[in-house]
Amino acid sequence: MPTQQSERWIADGANVEAELKELGYKVDLQYANDDIPTQVSQIENMINGGVEALIVASIDGTTLTSVLETAEAQDIPVIAYDRLINGSDTVDYYTTFDNYQVGVQQGTSLLIGLGVLDENGEETGEKGPFNVELFAGSPDDNNATFFWNGAMDTLQPYLDSGVLNVPSGQTEFEQAAILRWLPDTAQDRMEDLLTVGGGKKLDGVLSPYDGLSIGIISALTSAGYSGDKLPVVTGQDAEVGSVKSIIDGEQYSTIFKDVRKLGERAVIMVDDLLKGEEPEVNDTETYDNGEKVVPSYLLESEIVTVDNYEKVLVDSGYYEPKELK
Ligand code: BGC
Repeated sequence: MPTQQSERWIADGANVEAELKELGYKVDLQYANDDIPTQVSQIENMINGGVEALIVASIDGTTLTSVLETAEAQDIPVIAYDRLINGSDTVDYYTTFDNYQVGVQQGTSLLIGLGVLDENGEETGEKGPFNVELFAGSPDDNNATFFWNGAMDTLQPYLDSGVLNVPSGQTEFEQAAILRWLPDTAQDRMEDLLTVGGGKKLDGVLSPYDGLSIGIISALTSAGYSGDKLPVVTGQDAEVGSVKSIIDGEQYSTIFKDVRKLGERAVIMVDDLLKGEEPEVNDTETYDNGEKVVPSYLLESEIVTVDNYEKVLVDSGYYEPKELK
C-alpha cells in the first residue's frame, strides 16, 4: 500500500489483510510512506522472502517495471490494486473502480451543488456565470487522468457556453495536478489561485480527493470565505474528516468507493490465481498500460452529500454513527 497518510489506504490494507487471513493465507502488509524506492525495496524483499502472490497499490505506476520482472521470472502473480501499474507486461490483473465514472460524478456533483443540474442530473436552466477553479490528482497516478477526463468531459460544455468560468485560466491537467495528492500543495495552489484569479468571488472548486479538499477549504477559509459563502467543493473517498465537513456544511460532496468490496475482489483474484482458476473480470478494454490491456474488474462508486450520507455510509455499516460525530 502506498501511504498511511490517508485513511482510505489504511482501510484498504486492513481489509485485504483480514480477508486473506480468513482464507488461511499469511500476509505481509507494507506501507511505503509515498516513497518510490521504499516501495520497490518492499516488493524486492517480499519476492526474496518467497511470497506466492503480490497485490500492489503503486505510488508511481511507472516505476515498478524492473522489480516486477523478477516476480515474473519466479511465476509470482501480480495484481494491480486500485492504481494501474504502467509499462509492465507482468501485471496479471487489475481491480479498481470505474475511474472515469468517478470523475463524471465529481463534475456532476459540482454542477448539482452550483444549481446548474438538479438532483437527477437534469439541467435547471441556471446560467450562472459561476467562477470555478479546477484541481487534479497526482500526475504519476494513472487514476488521476481518468478522474480529470471524466470531470472535464462533464464540465466542458458549461465552460464552452460560459455558464462556468475559470478565473485563473488554468484549465490544463498539468496546471491543475497535485503531485502525490498532498493537501498542503493543494492549499498553496488554492492560495495562489485566489490571487491569480484577480480576487473574483469563487463559486466552486473541482477537487478529486478529500485530502486536497481539506487543504483547499483551509485556503478559502483563510481568505475570508465561510459558512454559506464557501464555494461548492467536491472530493473523493468519503474520509471521516471530509464527511464531518460535509455534515457541517463546508465540503459539498465526496465520492464513496466501498473499499471493502475492492479488497474482497483483490482477494478473490489472488485466490483464483493460486488455485489455477481464471479470475472473473468485467472490463478488457479500458486499462492499457502501454504493454498490454490489463484485464480488470471495475466497481461502482456513488456521490455522497449531506442528503444521503446516512443511507450510504451509516446504514451500509461503512461508518458507525459515533465516528461521524
Ligand atoms: C485513488 C483515490 C485516492 C487517491 C489519493 C487514487 O489512486 O483511486 O481513491 O483519493 O489515489 O490517495
